[in-house]
Amino acid sequence: MEDEMAGTDVTACPAATPEQTAGIEPEQFRRVMGSLLSGVCIIGSADAAGAPCGLTCSAVCSVSLEPPLLLFCVKTPSSTLDAIRARGAFVVSLLDVESHAISDLFAKPAPDKFASVAWRGAAHTGLPLIDAALAHAECAVHDIVEAGDHVIVLGRVLAGDADPRRFPLGYWRRDYMRVLRPVDFLDGTDTEADWIGEF
Ligand SMILES: Cc1cc2nc3c(=O)[nH]c(=O)nc-3n(C[C@H](O)[C@H](O)[C@H](O)COP(=O)(O)O)c2cc1C
Repeated sequence: MEDEMAGTDVTACPAATPEQTAGIEPEQFRRVMGSLLSGVCIIGSADAAGAPCGLTCSAVCSVSLEPPLLLFCVKTPSSTLDAIRARGAFVVSLLDVESHAISDLFAKPAPDKFASVAWRGAAHTGLPLIDAALAHAECAVHDIVEAGDHVIVLGRVLAGDADPRRFPLGYWRRDYMRVLRPVDFLDGTDTEADWIGEF
C-alpha cells in the first residue's frame, strides 16, 4: 500500500531550483513573445459623450465557440478600457495588409483618433468599425480579468463578418509584416481558384 501511494506523495517532489523560480527578464520575455506572429486589431468603443475611441492591439485571440468568446489584453490604465467598461461593448477590427499607418495612429494617445480614418458604425452596437478591416467582431463584455500589468477583456461575439479577398497585416519582432498569399499558392501546388473567396 505504501509503495502504491509513493507516486502521489508531493513531498517527494524535488524543490524548485533557483533557476525555476527566478523568472525571465522583461527584455527576454519581449524577445520570446515578439517571435509569435500576430495580426493587428483596432479595438473600438465610445466614451460617455458618444465620441469614438480605440487602441491598437495585437494580443487578441479566439477563446470559445459555444458561447462565441474572444479576448484581448490591454495595459492599464487605458482610456479606451475605461470607455469599454462603461459601455459594456466594443468592436474588434482586424486590419488589412496596407493598414500599418492606422495601427500607428491608434497606438498613440490622441483626442480623436477616428477623425483621420474611414470608419462606420457597426450594425449591432453602432460602435466604430474601421473600413480597412478584413474582418470584424462586435462584442458585449463577458468578463474582465486582472492579469499583472494588463487586464484580459473577454467579449461575447454578437455579430461579425470577414472579407475573403483581403489579406492581414502581421506584427512580428516589433515590425509590421505583409502577409500576402497562402504557402500552397506560393509553392505552386494550389491555384488562385483553390483559395480565393473561400475559407
Ligand atoms: C502593433 C501594436 C500592437 C499593440 N498591441 C497592444 C496590446 O496587445 N495591448 C496593449 O495594451 N497595447 C498594445 N499596443 C499599444 C497601444 O496601442 C497603445 O498603448 C495605445 O496608446 C493605448 O491607447 P489608450 O491610451 O486609449 O489606452 C500595441 C501597439 C502596436 C503598435
